[in-house]
Amino acid sequence: MREFPVHPSEYRYNTSPVFSMGVFPVRIRSGMILNEVTDELIHLFDSARSVAVLTGAGVSAESGVPTFRGGGDTEIWTWRGKHITELSSAELMATDPKLVWEWFDYRRGMLTEVKPNPAHVALAQWERMFEDFTLITQNIDDLHRMAGSLNVLELHGNIWRARCLRCLSTFEARECPIEQNPPLCLACSGPARPDVVLFGEMLPEGIFEKAETAASRCDLFFVIGTSAVVYPAASLPIAAKQSGAKLIEVNAERTDISFLADVTLLGKAGELLPQFIKVRG
Ligand code: OAD
Repeated sequence: MREFPVHPSEYRYNTSPVFSMGVFPVRIRSGMILNEVTDELIHLFDSARSVAVLTGAGVSAESGVPTFRGGGDTEIWTWRGKHITELSSAELMATDPKLVWEWFDYRRGMLTEVKPNPAHVALAQWERMFEDFTLITQNIDDLHRMAGSLNVLELHGNIWRARCLRCLSTFEARECPIEQNPPLCLACSGPARPDVVLFGEMLPEGIFEKAETAASRCDLFFVIGTSAVVYPAASLPIAAKQSGAKLIEVNAERTDISFLADVTLLGKAGELLPQFIKVRG
């Protein structure tokens, strides 16, 4: 189990030799910035045996979901004068669970009409192309599953699920707006909370370990649409790189992890990801 979220200094900007850039078997220089998917990148993609992907809010930005820290058309920072880190916190859950539900109800309201975009669709297709493929997401919006991804490691939970505070069972809760605050458990009628990870809480049991294993095992790791500042999720590309994987970042802008990436693809995920599987001429 991991403390969440933290920004431990040992993870950030670690410049020890273990992070030095590897040599690509194809004509790709480490630390390259590209605006399109080149034939060399497609070759690297096609020859990968094990692929892991970490996505963040940017992958849903083209669906109209606000990001947290930039790059999208809209961002969520504050609501009713409170900062997101206060609204989505274990502390507020303990003192004012009704307000936490109202906040998540507001966010659920933003998602009701939202549909997966070509980035989600491409990732669902990638899953079917590789024998060993792991999709890890920080997003709670469920869009990967809606696009057809079958196995998704949801590090931060799912906004459409609730968890009973009494019997701890989880259940789908898609009613929006919620009729009763808090909603009641379908099994024992106890009060439920959103089944998401709040600031100051641990990640769900076992999920991060699975993500870490995939990151350490893969030979190609994609970090897509995340500012890579929230840990422990942001440690996954570092773990992958440490284990010898090639690291490809896809982002609208350079991030904290760009210095470590073999290639940063600058642009929109919805435009870039489908290029990996476009019909080759
Ligand atoms: P952020 O909002 O921090 O970062 C979004 C990233 O997506 C930025 O780096 C943008 O440049 C990039 N981006 C925006 N539009 C894009 C596009 N069309 N294509 C590619 N990239 C694009 O979101 P996360 O890194 O996911 O946690 O945030 C991590 C966590 O912080 C979230 O899961 C959330 C938040 O606190 C919880 O609420 C528990």
